[in-house]
Amino acid sequence: MNLKPTRLRMCGNWVLDRFPLAQVWNEHMAHYYAPKNFNFWYFFGSLALLVLVNQFVTGILLTMNYKPDAKLAFDSVEYIMRDVNWGWLVRYMHSTGASAFFIVIYMHMFRGLLYGSFKQPRELIWIFGMLLFVALMAEAFMGYLLPWGQMSYWGAQVIISLFSAIPVIGDDLSLWIRGDYVISDATLNRFFAFHVIAVPLVLVLLVFMHIVALHEVGSNNPDGVDIKKSKDPWGHPVEGIPFHPYYTVKDLVGVAVFLLFFATVIFYMPEMGGYFLEHANFIPADPMKTPEHIAPVWYFTPFYSILRAIPDKFAGVIGMGGSIVVLFLLPWLDRGKVKSIRYRGGIYKKALMLFVISFIALGYLGTQPVTPLATMMARVFTACYFGFFLLMPIYTRWEKLKPVPNHLTIQPTLEERIPELKALFEEVTEIKTEGEVSKRGFNPTGAKNVLIRTAKNLKESLD
Ligand code: HEM
Repeated sequence: MNLKPTRLRMCGNWVLDRFPLAQVWNEHMAHYYAPKNFNFWYFFGSLALLVLVNQFVTGILLTMNYKPDAKLAFDSVEYIMRDVNWGWLVRYMHSTGASAFFIVIYMHMFRGLLYGSFKQPRELIWIFGMLLFVALMAEAFMGYLLPWGQMSYWGAQVIISLFSAIPVIGDDLSLWIRGDYVISDATLNRFFAFHVIAVPLVLVLLVFMHIVALHEVGSNNPDGVDIKKSKDPWGHPVEGIPFHPYYTVKDLVGVAVFLLFFATVIFYMPEMGGYFLEHANFIPADPMKTPEHIAPVWYFTPFYSILRAIPDKFAGVIGMGGSIVVLFLLPWLDRGKVKSIRYRGGIYKKALMLFVISFIALGYLGTQPVTPLATMMARVFTACYFGFFLLMPIYTRWEKLKPVPNHLTIQPTLEERIPELKALFEEVTEIKTEGEVSKRGFNPTGAKNVLIRTAKNLKESLD
């Protein structure tokens, strides 16, 4: 059919007269002014959206061949992997996507901690984000039961039995969650329903509210400076740029780099050494045989470590729950007068560094078997984890702040940094001549100097 452009435009106008598509596009993309200094850390919001879409699309495709039945589930996943056309790819995209989601979200949350994006007036964006995080954890936990492997079964067994530690209602509560006295077909069926429809609906709703709240108050930025203070005669922030096309194009670069990593994992290391797909999950669930070492998937291990670090079971459950609840309270725990880490004092910077180290260490310890040393270390890092939050009202009030500029600061671009990087490369390498051949090799003295200088710079920036 040969549609003339005028016909097309008429069709377009017919829709636009009845549906505010252009208005929504302009309000949230073409006329949404975002600060012009977004950096690396601002890639992760759009990447989270991308991974969410990936999970939906691959999830729907998996559902076409998966069987939510305790007798058939494991085999149906094997069938997808071996017999369904491209089934292996779809499954690996979904399983790798789950881990990628948590990597992206942890980076996204860390950006919030760096630039104080949770502070007034963005408290609600943070709260919706935290609700998303909790929903995401529920989604991942329930999805993990579906392949009905040994780790699916025993992981769910351990986590659900935690609820029985709650006084009075505990036993009834875990029975209610399982729908049976043990993890069984009933549990698998309800987890399937939640994983495939109920929680995804909640996620979509929360993402919508997260973005609406963000667009109401506007994005923060790496300087934490409010760009709405100075506007041009048309009412647009002078230091803002329209989200589309500037940030849509920038985000596409992030997407391309992300997909490079994502595809490398899918095609070359889909199990990621047992971290993304645990080895014990290639064995069908056996209620009569407990695996030697039960550990949740890597993204839950920091919280699992906190649970194990506390000797009493109920106190451990409270500790684990508390480690998530404190994150909700962050906007009110931080009493600092500035948002961005660039203008905070040394205490916050050191506290944040210690927090990140503790989080990673707890994550590692959670994957390891319990030993007296590991338990002691987990206790120390648990104390650091909670110390970061609970002492925050005190140390953020004390610290000496740097003056915040009135305008966004100009940071050197990657291109401008090339001469600096070239000089660095020349410093850590030297030309070595062997006979007729000369080539660049490692220069230990140069590398030592660079390390000392970096450590000094780091110390200076932390003070
Ligand atoms: C499915 C999960 C999530 C999706 C799809 C998502 C998406 C987004 C997007 C697209 C943005 C705007 C772009 C950007 O600033 O990077 C954003 C901003 C933001 N998100 Fe999320 N997000 C998710 C989870 C979270 C979580 C778990 C938190 C923290 C608890 C969080 C906290 C924030 C904050 C504070 C901002 C504003 C940042 C600023 O203006 O500097 N988000 N999110």
